[in-house]
Parts: sequence; C-alpha cells; structure tokens
Amino acid sequence: MGPLGSLLAALLGLLLLLLPGSLGQTVRVRDEVTGFLGQEAVLPCHFVKAAPDIKVSQVTWMKEASGRKQNVAVYHPEHGPSFPMDREGTRIRFRTPSLEDTTLVIGPLRLDDEGTYFCEFATYPGGNQDGVTHLIVLAKPTNTAEAQEVKVSSLEQPVATCTSAHGKPPARITWQSSLGGNASVSEVTNADGTVTVTSHYRLVPSKEANGQRITCVVEHKALPQPEVLPVTLSILYPPEVSIVGYDDNWYLSRNEAMLTCRADGNPMPTEFIWSTSSGPLPKTVTVQGGNLLVQNVDASVNTTFICQATNRVGQVATEQVIFVRDKPNLQGAGTTGGIIGGLIAGIVALAVVATGVLICRQQQKNRMDHEEDDLEGPPPYKPPPPCQLSDETEPVPRPNEVENIPLKSSYLEPTEDPFGGVAPTATEDAPRYHELPTLEEREAASEVGPGLEDDDYLDQINPIYDGLSFPAMEDETALTPLPTDKAFVMSRAMYV
Ligand SMILES: *[C@@H]1O[C@H](CO)[C@@H](O)[C@H](O)[C@H]1NC(C)=O
Ligand SMILES: *[C@@H]1O[C@H](CO)[C@@H](O)[C@H](O)[C@H]1NC(C)=O
Repeated sequence: MGPLGSLLAALLGLLLLLLPGSLGQTVRVRDEVTGFLGQEAVLPCHFVKAAPDIKVSQVTWMKEASGRKQNVAVYHPEHGPSFPMDREGTRIRFRTPSLEDTTLVIGPLRLDDEGTYFCEFATYPGGNQDGVTHLIVLAKPTNTAEAQEVKVSSLEQPVATCTSAHGKPPARITWQSSLGGNASVSEVTNADGTVTVTSHYRLVPSKEANGQRITCVVEHKALPQPEVLPVTLSILYPPEVSIVGYDDNWYLSRNEAMLTCRADGNPMPTEFIWSTSSGPLPKTVTVQGGNLLVQNVDASVNTTFICQATNRVGQVATEQVIFVRDKPNLQGAGTTGGIIGGLIAGIVALAVVATGVLICRQQQKNRMDHEEDDLEGPPPYKPPPPCQLSDETEPVPRPNEVENIPLKSSYLEPTEDPFGGVAPTATEDAPRYHELPTLEEREAASEVGPGLEDDDYLDQINPIYDGLSFPAMEDETALTPLPTDKAFVMSRAMYV
C-alpha cells in the first residue's frame, strides 16, 4: 500500500471515529448506579451493533480518578478477562464475560469505588465507543438517641444526644419537641470515609422537663424513610418531701395512728429516715419505709416528727407537728365519719348492684329451667333474654357462667353468703382510703346510717389509720344489714 493509500485509510478511520455520535448510542449503560458500602454494585454495559459488519475487538472498563483514566477491567476474546486495579481478582468481575454483555460487578464496595466509570468498546470500523456510569456508594448510618442525665440548673446544657454513625453522605438530624430547646450539631469524618453526625439537644434543665418525651429524626439517602428515635428526658432533682396522714385528732390511748412520708424526686427517693425534733424516735412507734405507725398514742408522740428523704442529688427533710390531746377532737371525727360514711355508701351501692345482678340471673336461670323441663333433655344453648337490671353493669352471662353459680341453694339457706361469687368483686371495687368520698357520697352516707358515726366504732375500723389492714373491710359488709335483707326480701317475692 502506497503513502496515498495509508493517508486515505487514516482519513476514513477519522471519519468513522466521528460517526458514532451521529449514528446514535450503541453502548448501553446506566447513567447512575447506587451501591451500599460492603455490598455489590452492578454496572450494566451492552454493545448494540448498529450494522452487522461491525467487529468488536476488546472491551475496557475505565475509572476516572483525579483527572486521569485508569483501567479497571479488560476483556479480550483471546486473552480473557483481566483486572489491573484488582490484582487479587476478588472484588471486581464481569457478570458474563463476553463481548456483547460486559456488565461489571464490584463488591464488597468500598467508599473509594465511587466515581465515574467508562465502558469502552474497541470496534472496527468505528474505533472506540463508550458509555459513562456514575457509581455512588452510600453507607447506611447506625442511629441512636439517648437522654443525658443532668441536674436541674439555670444554665442551658445538653439534655439529649442523637448520633448517626458511619453514614455517607452525612445524615441530617432534627429534633421534634415542644420544649423549645436548641440543637447543636457536629460532624466527624471516620477513617473509612464515612461521617458520624452528633446532635445535642440543649435546654435549661428544669424539673418540669423531667420525663418529657422528645424525638430525634434522622434523614439519610440510604434510609427508605426518616428514622424516628424517641427520648425521655431525665432531669435529676432532689427529693420533694411531705408528711401526710395527720388528722389533728391524736388523743391519749387512741389505737393506730399513722404518718406517711411522701417524696418525689429523680431518681425516686427510696430511703426515708424518721426522727423527732427532740432526737430519736419514741419507742412506741414503728417505721415501715415511708410509714410511721403509732400503735397506741401516748405523751411520747406529743412532738414534731421529721422525715428525711435522700436521693443521688440531695437530702431533704420536712416536719409535722403533732399535738396529743387528752380527749378526741370531735370536729376532726366529723370529717373521718364522712369518709367512713362514704365507704359504707359505696359498699351499699355495690351490694345493691350485685343483688340486682343476682336476681336478674336467677330470672334467666328460671326461664332456662322451664325450657329444660319442656324439652326433656339438654337443649341447645339459646341466648338468655336481655337482662334489664344487669345491662349496664355486666355483659349477658354465658351459659357455663350461669350454670356455675349455685343460686338456688343460697336462697334456700339464709346462713350462706347471699353474694355468692360476686362478693369479692364488690370488695375489690370498694374505694381505697385515700380516695375521699364526694359530697354526694357523704350525703348518701348520712341518710343510710347516721348511727355509724359513733367514735368508738370509728376507732375500730377507721381505715385512714389502718391502711395496712384494709382487707378487714370485708367483714364490714356483714355489719351493714341493708343489702342482705334487701336480697332476701326481693328473692322471696320472686318465689311467691
Ligand atoms: C437557643 O440559642 C439561642 C442563640 O444561641 C439563644 O438565644 C436561645 O436562648 C436558645 N434557646 C433556648 C431555648 O435555649
Ligand atoms: C402536748 O404538748 C402540748 C405543748 O406542746 C401541751 O399543751 C399538751 O398538753 C401536751 N399533750 C399531752 C397529752 O401531754
């Protein structure tokens, strides 16, 4: 071939080199591929022949790094695949080594795999043709949030910390709170190129902020939705102590009087120390945790009691002056009488409801018995007719419940407990001693049994001073004749 021939060939080659752009893209790649640190990324690449006579001699994957291209993977039909940047050949491979599909697989991904990749086909005629793919490597962060225990203070300081560790790109951290604090964010780049973001929620720590919930929200490209991390604030404060239970009616030879030391605080105080203004406790009192129990009131408790509560933050004491009288304080008794009255009224009310339920069940039972008689044999279960009395208090009983209650025997033998299995419920529902009766309850009580406000009676059952022996109230139902009588009167009427 003469010099003219080679010049012509060169010109032709140059022309063909410029052609592919005008002929349309024949290298099919994806513009962008996103992979996760430690996982695999697949970079598809296919050559589409524009004409049947085009020949591909070699494929090369290149990566652009700091302005110059480096060969990553080469496939030659005779020499096979080679991976200049991955000498061990463990992280980079062709999915199916061939000239048509030269999809590249990289993994486990490192952060420095991120970059611009060129999939280049050496063709004849037509020269080199390539497709460009941007590989983005994400690192999913590990997110945590926790409260920072701080003491009550007038200085703004971090009360909660939210951390999004080892993310790429750095996560965005925000806080949701009604407390009006500020957030301060800091970022640290780790050795592997990931970023750890830390956000402190800052607040002037007050007692009111203790136990409040705030929320840390972490947003990141690798998270399908923002991660929400709730935090319950823990603001430490010293005990707040009060002594309750003094009724201004401590008199000589009274049985059972009790003071209770109530303390709030963070952490909750668990240790209480009782003393008196004149020194150690009198011998007649016993201490059970926060309770100070006086079995028998005498002159030795005519003093000032001090309760001291301690937690990690501080030690706080409060005192209660006790005045021991010679005679009971009748005005004070009126108040406690009201409480007793309220309790009795509550019990009576429950007893009436229980009686109503029993009667209603009995009616149902009777109806069912009649049906049984008519049918001679176990009838299929039919739902009992709606029960007027029990509708509001109880669901319609199921058949086995009805069967289990020995209604008949209790009506025939008056010595048995007329409440049957229902009575324990009434006891459970009885008001506890600290739930003071409402005005209505007190009025109801004074109607029911004014004779019960007798002082001696009070001393025996006064539940204020006898919170520990509260189950004794079960016996009190026997002392209230009303519900029992009522039950029998009504049930007899039924049987007539
Ligand atoms: C938040 O920060 C600003 C400026 O630092 C400060 O003026 C403001 O008092 C802070 N708010 C709270 C609730 O601490
Ligand atoms: C208790 O002390 C007061 C004075 O603080 C006194 O007036 C009262 O009589 C005392 N009570 C008894 C029962 O000693």
